[in-house]
Amino acid sequence: MNEVKVALPSGIEYPVIIGNGAKDRLPSLIPPGAHRAAIVTQSKIGISVEPGIEHKVFEIADGEEAKSLTTVGELCSAFATWGLTRADVVVGVGGGVVTDVAGFAAATYHRGVAVIHVATTLLAQIDAAVGGKTGVNLPEGKNLMGSFWQPSGVICDLDTLDTLPERELRSGLGELAKYHFLTGDPLIQMELEDRISRAVEIKAEIVVEDEMEQGKRALLNYGHTLGHAIENIGNYEIKHGEAVAIGLIYAAELSHALERINYERVSEHRHIVESYGLPSVLPEKMSEEDLLFAMTRDKKAVDGFTFVLDGPNGLEIVKGIEESLIKETLNKVR
Ligand code: GLY
Repeated sequence: MNEVKVALPSGIEYPVIIGNGAKDRLPSLIPPGAHRAAIVTQSKIGISVEPGIEHKVFEIADGEEAKSLTTVGELCSAFATWGLTRADVVVGVGGGVVTDVAGFAAATYHRGVAVIHVATTLLAQIDAAVGGKTGVNLPEGKNLMGSFWQPSGVICDLDTLDTLPERELRSGLGELAKYHFLTGDPLIQMELEDRISRAVEIKAEIVVEDEMEQGKRALLNYGHTLGHAIENIGNYEIKHGEAVAIGLIYAAELSHALERINYERVSEHRHIVESYGLPSVLPEKMSEEDLLFAMTRDKKAVDGFTFVLDGPNGLEIVKGIEESLIKETLNKVR
């Protein structure tokens, strides 16, 4: 079993426990004084947890559509009906949709109640459940409402990955592919458990430096500018990791077009994405116009088109890229 400590400058500190059977460690993460645990999950997850205190299961609907303000409102009403207090705890059991929704409900219910995430997908284990980002989508775009609300602990039980549909697992690999370019660690040579632990460690290091995303944390969005646009236009039928994979290739091509990296480095991106069996081209029928419009609505687009791009000094945030270059580079992922 591996354990990564997230120790924030604010004094908040919590463990991420990674390994087979890690969910059995849930009782050790329950905050002292909590009498009840509201378990938030989805019917398709089918993973039960035992928090060691009185608990009740609250199911939310499946799919990205469930990541809405309506779901959060219904969940908080159900917590109130049950009598959940500020001293109690919410436990999110599931993938990114569950941890984002459970986290946002916990952040706002009674102005904040503790939350623990039991991440059951690869995507949630290496990204969504760690670092305190919570939120919901709006019809106008993904994750447009939310808050930072750090969990009291995170569990990444690798046994749960065995139950994942293949496409869901592959989606997580898209996010894992991103970590290959964040530090230059030879992740591809590691066993899956160590690779997941290292990805969590890399994320924790970045979050500790920049919890509220004033700078460096935005690097975690490598590949996400186009990725989010693809997801949004495709009505979330394209999985997050698949969209990010295409976004990584696009970002590498854009860096190359800006003469920030050589073509060997672009090929490295293609190699990693392809070795995970992920797509590297845009779905047919996604128009240039729709993609450009969606990219300008990205949360990071505060100064024209904003991308995280690779370069001689590693990943950096690059603002104000010419629209003509953005358009031209789309042809490299068609
Ligand atoms: N998913 C990116 C972040 O947590 O900052």
